[in-house]
Amino acid sequence: MRSSRSVALSGVVLVTLSLLSCSHEAVVSDIYYGVSNYSFPEDFIFGVSTAAFQIEGAWNEGGKGESIWDTYVHEHPEYTPDKSNGDIAADSYHKFKEDVQLIKALGVKYYRLSISWPRLLPNGTSNNISTDGARYYRNLFEELLKANITPIVTLFHWDMPTPFMDLGGWNNPVIVDYFVDYARVAFNLYGDIIKTWTTINEPHQHCYQGYGADYFAPAIKSHGVGEYLCAHYLILSHAKAYHLYEKEFKPHQKGKVGITLDAFMGIPKDPRNFQDVLAVRSYLQIHFDLYAHPIFSAEGDYPTFVRQRINNMSLAQGFARSRLPYFTAEEVKIIRGSSDFFGLNHYTTYLMSPSEMEFSWSIPSMDHDAQVRMEQDPHWEKPGTDWLSVYPEGFRKLLNYVSDNYGREIPIIVTENGVGDKGQLKDYDRISYFNKYLYQLLLAIHEDNCNIIGYFAWTLMDDFEWSDGYFRSCLSTSVSLEQTSFAIAREIQKNSNSYLVLLH
Ligand code: BGC
Repeated sequence: MRSSRSVALSGVVLVTLSLLSCSHEAVVSDIYYGVSNYSFPEDFIFGVSTAAFQIEGAWNEGGKGESIWDTYVHEHPEYTPDKSNGDIAADSYHKFKEDVQLIKALGVKYYRLSISWPRLLPNGTSNNISTDGARYYRNLFEELLKANITPIVTLFHWDMPTPFMDLGGWNNPVIVDYFVDYARVAFNLYGDIIKTWTTINEPHQHCYQGYGADYFAPAIKSHGVGEYLCAHYLILSHAKAYHLYEKEFKPHQKGKVGITLDAFMGIPKDPRNFQDVLAVRSYLQIHFDLYAHPIFSAEGDYPTFVRQRINNMSLAQGFARSRLPYFTAEEVKIIRGSSDFFGLNHYTTYLMSPSEMEFSWSIPSMDHDAQVRMEQDPHWEKPGTDWLSVYPEGFRKLLNYVSDNYGREIPIIVTENGVGDKGQLKDYDRISYFNKYLYQLLLAIHEDNCNIIGYFAWTLMDDFEWSDGYFRSCLSTSVSLEQTSFAIAREIQKNSNSYLVLLH
């Protein structure tokens, strides 16, 4: 039976097709556009996502302390192509009521946002709680609830208080206790009205790009060492915050706590070549299961393949011990099962094949440990950002990968998915992307029996896109800059509200 939602989706498929027929370059493939009889479950969670540093601005107002992103982009204005920073961003600190109206206008009932750790705790430590910071989030959450929108709150979306960075950030084991202190403050202050928490957003991107490389703050560039230390203490911090909630808050607050992991999907460059198949496995195990396995597998701990590969590489490189730290037996136990749902962020897919060394790698490094060459098919659409090609089937494969490896009992919430464009006025690319990816999600639910309970589009509004700033270099044509945007509703007159079209 077709529910109203499936009719709506089919309608969108048709709308999209007719829009695309005006949009010259779009490559239309039958696979993506099959009009579906499948519908989203009645209680399916549809929402939009943002993150504090990317939208709040007010970087030094209300007693807020500095985060590593404030510090880094102030010290390195050349980091972003437009020399921008998060000082004002989307000004959500002042305009949060407007944001709530935007979400309301979209018609979604859930909003995933993050708390800025240094806005709440200016030095990072719980002995000093900012009254203004605490009030800001309280007002925001209450405003959302008044509008019948449920906030889903992330504790850490990459903006660590700078004083902790001076101590080594996630590479210093003491951070675990300080993160738990912060979580306690947040649970205490807001647990009466916030019932779904995620501890950490995309530990992999944060550690790989920020500790392994210098693509993101804090730009440590500790290839192959820092990224694993970061992973290790981040996973531990997550698990301890989870157990804090379980023990001290859940009994009366009755909420849920999870973590959001990210993954690019991989497909073998040549599906008939077994070495390419193995390359995909290696990539996923090192870049994704490194985080997922300790938390979501039945046995816990790092995957055996990852443990052996990094131990062997470390040995061959003359290290006195493995670059991948060990969890104690007690820690393995604490971490295993420490998430009430599987938060998953996904944007794109890569073709993978084996490689011993690539020009851009360092030794040691996570890339060199994985030994996988990654590229994208030039025929795949690339609506905006360079790293994001459209390959919707990869999404379904990833959802299956999670379900096959971590079971169908754990509910999956897609906490981010979306596409950047070049800031054009019409949202055809975005409509098309959501349409194709949501179709694959429906197939994963109905044909593959994946337990997916929610989907959050990235992002509600134009935001600070990390290394892209508010702009991206238009490398292909000239030195000029073009605006890039993942936004759905930031400037309502500018965008055609792709997600809105899709939902109604
Ligand atoms: C991050 C977001 C980011 C988005 C698009 C995700 O990896 O969680 O903060 O804006 O990708 O680049």
